Amino acid sequence: MNRREFITTAAVAGAGLLVLPSGVRGGEKAPSNKLNVALIGVWGRGLAHYGSLAEENVVALCDVNEKRFPEALAKFPNAKTHVDWRKCLDQKGIDAVVCCTADHTHAFVANWALNRNMHVYMEKPLAIAVEDARVVRANWMKKKAKLATQVGMQRHAMQNFNRVRELVRDGAIGQLTAAYAWGDRQIRRPGYLPAEGQPPEGFHFDLWLGPSPDHPYNPGYFSGGPGMNCLSWNMYWDFGVGQIGDMGSHTMDLLWNAIDATLPTTAEAKGEKFNPDVTPVECESHFDHPANDWRGPIRVSWYQGGAMPASPKPYVDLKKIDHGAMFKGTKGYVICDFGSRLVLPFGDDSDLTYYKPRTKDAVLPPLGHFQKQWIDACKNPSLKTACDFEYSGNMIEQLLLGLVAYRVGKKLEYDGAAGKVTNCPEANELLSRKYRAGWTLNG
Ligand SMILES: NC(=O)c1ccc[n+]([C@@H]2O[C@H](COP(=O)([O-])OP(=O)(O)OC[C@H]3O[C@@H](n4cnc5c(N)ncnc54)[C@H](O)[C@@H]3O)[C@@H](O)[C@H]2O)c1
Repeated sequence: MNRREFITTAAVAGAGLLVLPSGVRGGEKAPSNKLNVALIGVWGRGLAHYGSLAEENVVALCDVNEKRFPEALAKFPNAKTHVDWRKCLDQKGIDAVVCCTADHTHAFVANWALNRNMHVYMEKPLAIAVEDARVVRANWMKKKAKLATQVGMQRHAMQNFNRVRELVRDGAIGQLTAAYAWGDRQIRRPGYLPAEGQPPEGFHFDLWLGPSPDHPYNPGYFSGGPGMNCLSWNMYWDFGVGQIGDMGSHTMDLLWNAIDATLPTTAEAKGEKFNPDVTPVECESHFDHPANDWRGPIRVSWYQGGAMPASPKPYVDLKKIDHGAMFKGTKGYVICDFGSRLVLPFGDDSDLTYYKPRTKDAVLPPLGHFQKQWIDACKNPSLKTACDFEYSGNMIEQLLLGLVAYRVGKKLEYDGAAGKVTNCPEANELLSRKYRAGWTLNG
């Protein structure tokens, strides 16, 4: 059983087994069986966590918009409120953090929480710059034996993820040679919004900007419904990475789960004309990955905003799949969306005699409830999570490197151990971001 299959199995074995000392902060025992949780970003995506957090002690609520507190306090009346996540993390006794803020603050909150020995559930994307993802991953790797992490790629719990993995891993398409994922969400914006009006009372816009460069307030950044407002700001370079941090994180996960990859050795990309304000809508990026212990070297590709991989056969219209993945092997293809898959044997010798479906008892078990998997792992450090900061950090680092390749317009040679592009100095300049004075990434 390899690492990812162990994780799924271990998670199921651990579900419901609260026999170990729990309420663990960084491996220390806490007096109760419940975690003391800080929820940072309480509305929007934050609302989706109310259910799983209701069984824990939510002791701190943090939001830059004070208008969001009454609803959150109605659910978690014993919590203290904060508008600045840095002050929130100073509150004594916090075991674990669930963070649903805007993308440009994710790596900051993750590092600060890990550095204070708190477990972290971070909404996707984990980071919006290569270097930021690397710092978060490194911080967690030092503490992985005692801290649980999870990135909010909750579709990972859909059973089709395991079924796709089994088909690819067990040779239904022969030897894997390439994998492709795509998403066709297209939200076009010309540039940052102009100054308009003033932030409403109780809305701390400067804290919302946080580490990002200064921009004037405009209500257009905050006009979306709960859980959808990210589509009002995530396409701007200073606040997000567009498709990659949006549906791309979910869809690449469908692919990533099946290939056991770490970091690529090359990256190249092309897309629509560069806009210094807004991330590209149409873009495609390609990465070379070395062989691992069960497959040879493969090429991984990400397509977005209308760019699509070629279909293996004209009768398969990949465009009918909004967000999907395809795996190419020596004997055919697996094509899938989040909930279903099809196998397309290809070539004269693709008679499937080389493929033996798993017996019922060898089929990968369901992951269960995705947020609960993290809560269980916070309480019992021997349990693993499916989308920890290593798995998810590698995944987002690859996609973010693709955006760098898009910006410089060259094929990049990447030294993943060092986090350096070896053939293009200007690309190295784009691996990290410049932050506003007063904000520390790894504080
Ligand atoms: N896993 C998923 O399926 C999923 C779905 C939707 C959104 N998300 C992610 O959740 C995050 C939030 O998205 P959203 O649409 O809810 O956005 P949003 O703009 O509505 O923000 C959510 C909440 O966080 C608060 N907030 C923002 N920045 C903050 C900060 N620095 N400190 C404290 N509070 C802050 C906002 O005031 C709001 O109450 C994004 O990163 C997005 O990618 C994930």
